[in-house]
This record gives sequence, structure tokens and C-alpha cells, in this order.
Amino acid sequence: MKKTTFITSLAVTTMIIISFVCFANKKINNTMIDRTDIYKIIHYASLAGSSHNTQPWRVEVFPNDSITIFVDTSRLLKVVDPRGIELFISVGAFIENLNIAANTLGYITEITINETNINSNSPVSIIKLSKISSVQNLEVLKELELRTTLRIPFETVAIKTVDLEKIVSIAPDNISFIPSSSPNGAFIAKKELEAYTIQAYNKDAQDELAAWMRFSNKDINSKRDGLTPAGMGIKGIAGFFVRNFMKPDDSKKESFVKKGVEKTQKQVENCAGWIIISTEEDNTKNLINIGRIYERINIECRSLNIGFHPMNQIIEEYPVYKEVKDKLKLGKEIRFIARIGYVDKYPAPVSKRRSVESFTVFK
Ligand SMILES: Cc1cc2nc3c(=O)[nH]c(=O)nc-3n(C[C@H](O)[C@H](O)[C@H](O)COP(=O)(O)O)c2cc1C
Repeated sequence: MKKTTFITSLAVTTMIIISFVCFANKKINNTMIDRTDIYKIIHYASLAGSSHNTQPWRVEVFPNDSITIFVDTSRLLKVVDPRGIELFISVGAFIENLNIAANTLGYITEITINETNINSNSPVSIIKLSKISSVQNLEVLKELELRTTLRIPFETVAIKTVDLEKIVSIAPDNISFIPSSSPNGAFIAKKELEAYTIQAYNKDAQDELAAWMRFSNKDINSKRDGLTPAGMGIKGIAGFFVRNFMKPDDSKKESFVKKGVEKTQKQVENCAGWIIISTEEDNTKNLINIGRIYERINIECRSLNIGFHPMNQIIEEYPVYKEVKDKLKLGKEIRFIARIGYVDKYPAPVSKRRSVESFTVFK
């Protein structure tokens, strides 16, 4: 064979091989969920609320279009949540946001929840995504962005029946509403303050809380989790002082603790009532479901201009919990309590989130 003919046929063969490899890769890529979409979906999932803003989730994304979710037990609140009830509820809220974001971006989801516990390394959920549409409803994504916990005083005026129906219809078997003006409403307010006060003066709970306090701008922006002055509603000059001159350990001082109790008293006195989410028993499926319900109620409340403030100390302090359970006679385990009430103006969310890369592995 002539030298030029040999070089030409070698070049042609190389080009054919390169084209084939590119084609094969393209085919593989086509079966994979869009990287931009998956990133977005996980980001929106992470906007979910979590106890102390611990964001206790880990995620693995597989090329077969499935997402595996784990509870991150290194973020367990061992003192106030030793059994991981709030850990699983928080991951449930993450799953709810993930589902909403995926649906909004045109994916249908198949969600499997595994029975697991805080000592297990197995995934709590496997979610399979399939793209069925390119239609995107950006309004829904905006709702996920706007959802937030509000710790300001709310109006005490009664919640309109039409609004209450929208909230309770999210999960009628699990949601109860107790107006503040009722004897049971007043009882919950009293017990909430009692449970908060017990916890505020508990040395171990103080240490745990301090570990999740992010006071300085440096801490807030580098850790992107935990409770910040803005998130706790400490604004203006007080916020400036806390951010610049206080350390998380200062939150254990008597003056700070006392202010927290006073603030809580104002909170329990200023609301229209209490949302209670309950369940038959504490298994993984039920707790994940409670998290999903909580997240949906919070989103709905935001769109109705109703402030939403989880206050779970009653559940965390067992003797108080027992009293409340016996008094309310719901016949179920109470697993989430929040005060609600209309607000004049809905403040924007201020709580930080970690980056998707920091808790996600793309396999
Ligand atoms: C299971 C659970 C329990 C919570 N308990 C409380 C609580 O007792 N008091 C409180 O002020 N916030 C509570 N929160 C709200 C979180 O602190 C809040 O979601 C987190 O700081 C992130 O802020 P964001 O909801 O504004 O995004 C709870 C949230 C969850 C999911």
C-alpha cells in the first residue's frame, strides 16, 4: 500500500471510531437525567426546614435516574432528639420539597421509603425520576423559595374557615387545629412556655444549642447551617451586637436565656392557634410522612399570609408531652406542633443552606 493511501485510510478509520464513541456517549447521556435539573431539584429540596437548621441529609445520585437519600446522623440532636424523631421529620420535609421540585420540572417520581433507624447505614429513601414533560411552573418553585419559619408575634384574630380547610385538607387524618381562644389552646400555650423554660435551663440542651448557633458573619457564611441571629429574629442593633461581639457560648448566659423565655412568652400569647401533626406510631414511613405534611403546611401558610412557627419543645420534654397528650386525647402520638396566625407583612427567608455539592455524591 502506498504511504499516502495508508495515512488516508488510518485517518478515516480514526474518525469513524471517534464518531462511534461520541454517538455511544450521547446515547448514554440521553438516558441520564439532566445534570442541571437534578442539581436544581436537590437545591430546592435543601430549602426545606429542619430542626435547628441541621440539614441532616446526604444524597447519592445514580446514572440510572435515581436519587438515594440517607439521614446524616452526625447531625442528630442527641440531647433534645435522642431517638431521631425530628431527624426523620426533617428528612421528610427534604423529600417533600424534592418531590415538588421534580414534578415542577417535568419529572414523575417513584418514592420508596425504607424502614430504618439512626443506627443504620442504609438509605431511608430511593427516588426514581422519569422525565415526562418539559413544562415548568416557576411559580411553584418560588413558593419553595419563600417558605420560612417566622418567630415574630402573629395576629390573634381567628383563622378564616376557608383558609383552615385548605391547611387541614393537606392530611385530614394527621392534622388538628386548636384555636388559641379555646381552653385547650390556652393549655398548649402554657405548656409550650413551660417546656421551653425547662429546656432553656438544661445544661446539656444549652451546650447542644450553642453548637448550632452561628453568630459571626464568618461562621454564618462558611457553615451555612444552624441558627443565625437573623433566623432567630434578632435584628437591628441587637443583631449587630450579637454578630460582632458575642460567641455561641454566650447563649448559655442567664441574660440570653432569660430573653429567650420572655420572647417565647410573647410568641405563645400572640397567635391564632396551634397546628398539631400526629401519627399512630413512630416508624420511619410515618415520620417521613409527618415531615412531608409539615413542609406542605408551611408552604400553604406562606401563600395564605399566615405565619408558621414550629415549637416542638413540648414533644422534646417527655413529662410535659405526657400531660399534653393526656389532655388533648387525640389518640395518637403528637409529633409536630406549630403556632400559626396572620401576619401583616411576610418577611423574606433568611436561613442559610449548605451547597448541593457538600452533601451530594454524583456516582
Ligand atoms: C422537626 C422540626 C422541629 C423544629 N422545631 C423548632 C422549634 O422548636 N422552635 C423553632 O423556633 N423552630 C423549630 N423548627 C424550625 C427550624 O428551626 C427551621 O426550619 C430552620 O431553622 C430553618 O429555617 P427556615 O424554616 O426558615 O428555612 C423546627 C423544624 C423542624 C423540621
